[in-house]
Amino acid sequence: MTLSPKSMAATFTIATDFTEHSSIHSSKVTTIKSLSESGLTSLPPSFACKNLHKIPVLDSSSEYNTLPVVDFSLLVSGNSEQRDKAIQDLGQACEEWGFFFLINHGIPENLINSMMEGVKGFFNLSEEEKKEFQGKHIFDPIRYGSSINTAVEKIHCWRDFLKVFVHPEFHFPHKPSGFSDTAFEYLKMIREIIRELLRGLSENLGLEPNYINKATTIESSFQVFVANLYPPCPEPELAVGLHPHSDHGLLTVLTESISGGLQTLHNGKWVKVNAPPNALMVNTADQLEIMSNGKYKSNVHRAVVHSNATRISMVTANGPSLDQLISPATEFVSDTHPPAYTSVTYKKYYELSQSNSFDNGLFLDRMRI
Ligand code: OGA
Ligand code: NI
Repeated sequence: MTLSPKSMAATFTIATDFTEHSSIHSSKVTTIKSLSESGLTSLPPSFACKNLHKIPVLDSSSEYNTLPVVDFSLLVSGNSEQRDKAIQDLGQACEEWGFFFLINHGIPENLINSMMEGVKGFFNLSEEEKKEFQGKHIFDPIRYGSSINTAVEKIHCWRDFLKVFVHPEFHFPHKPSGFSDTAFEYLKMIREIIRELLRGLSENLGLEPNYINKATTIESSFQVFVANLYPPCPEPELAVGLHPHSDHGLLTVLTESISGGLQTLHNGKWVKVNAPPNALMVNTADQLEIMSNGKYKSNVHRAVVHSNATRISMVTANGPSLDQLISPATEFVSDTHPPAYTSVTYKKYYELSQSNSFDNGLFLDRMRI
């Protein structure tokens, strides 16, 4: 490792903190932001991923990789022909990609921008101020930390995060000022969009429109807001912002501060995701794969990092109610097509998946029968 004199002290700290004492039960974890700002010129070995370049990376602009687009305004339009078209686009996107861009979603641009400002403001608080939010347990409603699960992982991710439980009970950091009010409004709009998408997907599955919303007790849905900070990384080609994973809920909504960083796995290749202006990015997640008994695939994706740019993503995981037992819908189970997944409550699923670190594979694979 080559070190500039300025970075020596910081590097020494992280080597100790991450490899010996780090855990989500420890308050000693050095943040990636402070590590990045310390002037490192090479990557600490505990961040070096071995298989980063095993799977080829394709550009999303290639003819065969045009990522699907769903027009939300058509889905909620009174015109049944337009709605049918949107439902078909939605179903096809979930089957073939597990990913789509949602356009004309109705969330005002300035609300999304204010959210992003709030996230930046949060990460720019001093480490001392942010300490208050360092969660120690998976079910702490506000948890600020680094990587994924430093207690169990061997290879760390180049990422700091803020994770907040925002529904059915709304929690939020009280700093920076105004952030919480903005978030309340933004997250409520996301929930309304999710309900409509799940209505469309129920119809696409040949079920009555409220099927998934009812089966997941959506009025008390568990919603988690995650802000990810990916600071500049000295050797981005060796590190990862987030290991390949699929999300735990039903549908995940993502927006980002700069384009480029998210990659989605499609037909055995990584496809770079470059979102059109003002579009939301939506991933199908594990509970939807389980409920549909495998018809909709939970999207596997990862985040890569940059050498001279900071990227922020705002991610909202929208799941069933925590008490809900999730199993393949009886409509998709038959003698020839038996249930392909173990049934557990979403709470248990969340707990188990959050204890994983994804440097040892996908969690959903362990739920397959
Ligand atoms: C996530 C996630 C990707 C990104 O937080 O689950 O996949 O680009 N994030 O930040
Ligand atoms: Ni994800």
